[in-house]
Amino acid sequence: MDAIDVIRAKRDGGTLTPEQIDWAVDAYTRGAIADEQMAALAMAILLNGMTRPEVARWTEAMIRSGERMDWSSLDRPTTDKHSTGGVGDKITLPLAPLVAACGAAVPQLSGRGLGHTGGTLDKLESIPGWRASLSNAEMLDVLRAAGAVICAAGSGLAPADRKLYALRDVTGTVESIPLIASSIMSKKIAEGTGALVLDVKVGSGAFMKTVENARELAETMVAIGKDHGLRTVALLTAMDRPLGNAVGNAVEVAESVEVLAGGGPSDVVELTLTLAREMLAAAGLSKDPADALKDGSAMDVWRRMITAQGGDPDAPLPTARETHTVTAPSSGVLTRLDAYGVGVAAWRLGAGRARKEDPVSAAAGITCHAKPGDTVKEGQPLLTLHTDDETRLPRALESLDGAYEIGGTPSLHPLLIDRIS
Ligand code: URA
Repeated sequence: MDAIDVIRAKRDGGTLTPEQIDWAVDAYTRGAIADEQMAALAMAILLNGMTRPEVARWTEAMIRSGERMDWSSLDRPTTDKHSTGGVGDKITLPLAPLVAACGAAVPQLSGRGLGHTGGTLDKLESIPGWRASLSNAEMLDVLRAAGAVICAAGSGLAPADRKLYALRDVTGTVESIPLIASSIMSKKIAEGTGALVLDVKVGSGAFMKTVENARELAETMVAIGKDHGLRTVALLTAMDRPLGNAVGNAVEVAESVEVLAGGGPSDVVELTLTLAREMLAAAGLSKDPADALKDGSAMDVWRRMITAQGGDPDAPLPTARETHTVTAPSSGVLTRLDAYGVGVAAWRLGAGRARKEDPVSAAAGITCHAKPGDTVKEGQPLLTLHTDDETRLPRALESLDGAYEIGGTPSLHPLLIDRIS
C-alpha cells in the first residue's frame, strides 16, 4: 500500500477501500505515514467527503488503534452523553450523578477546554483535591462506589484520533463532518458505553453555526453508532446564547450544585432532565429523573463521586480577586446575548486556554444576570466579570461590545431544536 495512491484516490473524488482505510489509519498511528501526507489526505476528505461505509470503517480503524474499555462486570447498564461543546455548558456535572441516581452507570470520559468553549475537567478541577486522571481500575472503583465517574481519557484510548486531531487542528481540517463524527464516535465507542446520547449544539457559541450543519453531523454520528451496535440518539440544542447564568469554571460548578439541590436556572434544569430521560430510555430504565433531583439522591451521588476522586464537596470554591459589572445601557427587553461574545470574554478573563498546555484560572468567568427575553432596567447589572488579573478586563470587555442588545424582538432557537434517532 502506498500513501500517495490513497491520497490521490480521495483527492480525485473516489471512495477509499476498507483495506486502504485500515492501512492509512494504522500506518499514521505507527509513524509510517508522515504528517504532511496525512494532512493532505485529511484535506482531501474535507473537500470530497466520505460515504457512510467509509466513515464507519474509518471510525472502526481508529477504535482498533487502542484499547476498548469493558464495563460488563458492573450490575447496571451503562449510558453516556457527549456534547459538541458550548458556552456555559456544564450539563455533564449534574447529569452524570442524576442518571446514576436513577439506576444507570455513567462512565464519562471528558476533555479540557480549548478556545472559547469550556472543558468539563477544567470546571471540576476548581473543586479542591479533585483528580481528573484515573487508571481503568480506579474508574471501575468510582463507578462501583458512586455509579458515575467523570475523568480524562487515558492515552490508550483511540491514539489514532489523538494524533490526527492535533494534526487537523493546525492544518485547517477540523471542520470536516466525517472527520469530526468519526473522531467523537471512535472515543465514545472505545469507552465501552452501552448507550449514547449526543447533544449537538447549534449557534454562534458552537462548532456548528447552522441547524443544517448540526443535523448533518448528528445524522452521521447516529449512523456510526448504529453501524457499531451502539444505541445512539442525538438532540440538536441551542447555543446562540450561553446555557444557564454562569460561564467559567468554579462559577459553573456552583451553578451545577444549585441544580442538584433542586434549584438552578430553568434552561439548565430543562436540558439536564431532557438528556437524563434520553439516557435512561436508551439504557432501558424508566425512573423519572425529576424525582431524583427532588429527593436529594442525585446530590448524594455527586458527593460520593467527588469524594471518590479526591475532592472535597464541602470545600469553598475559589473566588476571583477582581470583579467588574456591566450594566444595562437602557430599559427594555434583552433581545440578544451572544454566546460567542460571552465565551470569548470568559476565555480572556482566564477561564479558558489558547494552547493545550496553558493553565486556566478556576475563579475566572462571567455571571449573566439577565437572559434573552428578560426585561431589564437602565443601570441594572447585566453581566459580572470575574478575574484574578485586572489587566485582562479591557480585552474581555472588548469582546462584549455588540454582544448584547436591548429592544426589538428576540430571535432565538428553541432550547430543544430537533431529535435524531
Ligand atoms: N471533538 C472531537 O473530539 N473531535 C473533533 O474532531 C471535533 C470535536
